[in-house]
Amino acid sequence: MSLQVSYREKHTNGVSATTKAVILVGGSSRGTRFRPLSLDVPKPLFDVAGHPILWHCLAAVQKVPSIHEVYLIGYYDESVFRDFIKDAASEFPNLSIKYLREYQALGTAGGLYHFRDAILKGRPERLFVLNSDVCCSFPLNEMLKMFTEKDAEAVILGTRVSEEAASNFGCIVSDNHTRRVLHYVEKPEGHISNLINCGVYLFSTDAIFPSIRSAIKRRTDRPSRLMSYPSSDNLMESSFVEYDNDDETEKNEVIRLEQDILSDMADSKQFFVYETKDFWRQIKTAGSAVPANALYLQQAWQNGSTQLAPAGPNIIQPVFIHHTAHVDPTAKLGPNVSIGPRATVGAGARIKESIVLEDAEIKHDACVLYSIIGWNSRVGSWSRVEGSPTPVANHSTTIVKNGVKVQSITILGKECGVGDEVRVQNCICLPFKELKRDVANEVIM
Ligand code: GDD
Repeated sequence: MSLQVSYREKHTNGVSATTKAVILVGGSSRGTRFRPLSLDVPKPLFDVAGHPILWHCLAAVQKVPSIHEVYLIGYYDESVFRDFIKDAASEFPNLSIKYLREYQALGTAGGLYHFRDAILKGRPERLFVLNSDVCCSFPLNEMLKMFTEKDAEAVILGTRVSEEAASNFGCIVSDNHTRRVLHYVEKPEGHISNLINCGVYLFSTDAIFPSIRSAIKRRTDRPSRLMSYPSSDNLMESSFVEYDNDDETEKNEVIRLEQDILSDMADSKQFFVYETKDFWRQIKTAGSAVPANALYLQQAWQNGSTQLAPAGPNIIQPVFIHHTAHVDPTAKLGPNVSIGPRATVGAGARIKESIVLEDAEIKHDACVLYSIIGWNSRVGSWSRVEGSPTPVANHSTTIVKNGVKVQSITILGKECGVGDEVRVQNCICLPFKELKRDVANEVIM
């Protein structure tokens, strides 16, 4: 797989290299681990640090000067992203943002191939591909720099995680000196490397589309009728995509970037890894929105964002308070707290490491720690809603308490009520539930 005309050749010929970006948003059958929050809003549109998860990806993309077109590719209904795209168009005026809908889940590379004509319109030379369910500083310009310097065909963003966590991700073996990817294995059974795939890639368009085509050809030549489609979203459900030999189109179009393309690309001399030392987390479970919220708020704080709440005696930075929310000046907030539109926080309340969603009410002297308070939910006075902190390195939102695995983050779904003086600890509470007594380590259905 070699480039016919390298990036450098094109560049030195005076033709400026254009870049496009694709953000993989998945669809409604995915994101089940994000329940109960995904019952009311598609995961990519869930607010962390005052903005939808997808907004943070776009904010990173717009910092790459050569990108003017972004495609959100997924299989949600057309209407799902309409308002978001309208708002984003005015916030990111340099970007044209379009949603391309797959007729079914086509896999992480199938959608790219299906929409290749749209993506390749205007002859972009490079293509960023971002998983939407990660939270990171997205060092896209640094990846681009490496891509140019190495005259690469592909650059993958990698980060180091603990040995125990590594097998939950794609694992990369690379040459320490050249940073070339030597070997790539998706969610290996045993330990291979603690350098993992962050779900952010930069490809030469001359390399990625022929690679997908080759993968499709290999698939067509192979007689197998059943292909497992492993993903951390459906590990629990062990889902399979069954192919009907009569329908070659459908069979051929489901392509996984990780299993079908990246392992093969490691054979190419032009595949490199850019290792980030900055923050990176997956946003899979609903609870993982809390560490993501903290990381994006800290980033905004370090960048001196004016969107954060101004300093005050009862604000421990960083804190985001929507301009329509009402927070009593005697309530103490932070660090790492986001308060959504029209939410109210009463006198003497204490909120730390939490997300309070639209129209929620936290009454006076209530305490909310390591929790998500759902849309329109009410937390009574003198009550306590709390989760537990998780070590950043374990990339999980469960903890072991008295030998039992429990949720580290407490989540109240939409329109839940917690009575006055009630204590809720490490629980997930489905929408519309009323909690009138103390509960701990439970899923309340
Ligand atoms: N358009 C589209 N179509 N998007 C999809 C599809 C699909 O059929 N399937 C998944 N996605 C999107 C998801 O919404 C998510 O943003 C991203 O692709 C990856 O999702 P998964 O397939 O569930 O993979 P994963 O999260 O278990 O693992 C991937 O990401 C890890 C980093 O977070 C892999 O790339 C791992 O190697 C990687 O470490």
